[in-house]
Amino acid sequence: MKKALITGINGQDGSYLAELLLSKNYKVFGLMRRKSKLDYGNIKHIKDKIEIIYGDMTDIVSLINAVKLSQPDEVYNLAAQSFVATSWEQPIATSEIDALGVTNLLEAIRTIKPEAKFYQASTSEMYGLVQEIPQSENTKFYPRSPYGVAKLYGHWITVNYRESYNMYACSGILFNHESERRGKEFVTRKITDTVARIKLGLLDVLELGNMSAKRDWGHSKDYVKAMWLMLQQEKADDYVVASGETHEVREFVSSAFKAVGMDIEFKGTGIDEIGVDKATQKTVVKVNPKYFRPSEVELLLGSPEKAERELNWEREISFNELVKLMVENDIKLVGEEIL
Ligand code: GDD
Repeated sequence: MKKALITGINGQDGSYLAELLLSKNYKVFGLMRRKSKLDYGNIKHIKDKIEIIYGDMTDIVSLINAVKLSQPDEVYNLAAQSFVATSWEQPIATSEIDALGVTNLLEAIRTIKPEAKFYQASTSEMYGLVQEIPQSENTKFYPRSPYGVAKLYGHWITVNYRESYNMYACSGILFNHESERRGKEFVTRKITDTVARIKLGLLDVLELGNMSAKRDWGHSKDYVKAMWLMLQQEKADDYVVASGETHEVREFVSSAFKAVGMDIEFKGTGIDEIGVDKATQKTVVKVNPKYFRPSEVELLLGSPEKAERELNWEREISFNELVKLMVENDIKLVGEEIL
């Protein structure tokens, strides 16, 4: 039986990856931070099948303990301060977790179990002010947030430990991936949750920031398969995982309303832009400048060509299916709330 240690196991990706590894008969260990109130987050339904280890990416002692206890064949580093907007409010904490935390974990593995295979959750945010379209493994990085900068460190330290110590260490450069389990601070889930509330008469308006930003969105369930595939190869390498399509935030909004039977028309520009329900002529989308970021990543579009060719990875859930799954799930959840 193979053993895997997943940091950030109670997040969106951690939970889907844990499900995938359990289905492959792995013994799964999950690193979680201890909180004043116990919260299993997205792994409530499988918590009895997983061995939880309490620890923190900023505390190398806890990581050494976690590696000692789990003796993993594979380590997936999914723990992060992952909300880009927060990284301007907490730049130091973000770099302690997302940058130095990776070195802590790599050192723990190098000391206790150097033959363990390592996956680092890198991100398309490292491309930031994109230097090339589409972005591939060879595109130059230009991060645009403290989060992107910290993640770039995490990426390079992973490459460096592979080259310095011959460790099997991979960096997965994942473009945006969403799901029904996404936190409501991220734009996709904020949209689908609010659209459900508008549809059910609980809210009137969805307030957003930059709706012109373009993202390459896929489903987390598809993307965790790529993480696992990266650790099943003969040689460690880095891979872009993306859908190969880009959509404006505005398009995500229209699709989400469409999924509940509402047709939206956008009028005006800049901070005066509004989204109007064609049937009732009511304003259902507004711009609120408080959601703009100090510096923005305007366009992300990844090329999954290498992952498809070398890993045989394939995405199964399309953009429209993703939106529909998320909206339908939120209609159900919000419906249960008001029962
Ligand atoms: N969150 C949020 N809220 N974003 C908004 C809003 C809003 O009200 N209005 C517009 N946006 C825009 C943001 O400015 C950004 O351009 C885009 O929507 C997506 O924002 P997020 O969903 O917060 O995700 P992200 O692209 O910044 O970061 C996500 O993807 C990265 C991979 O590219 C996160 O999952 C990161 O952890 C991940 O690395």
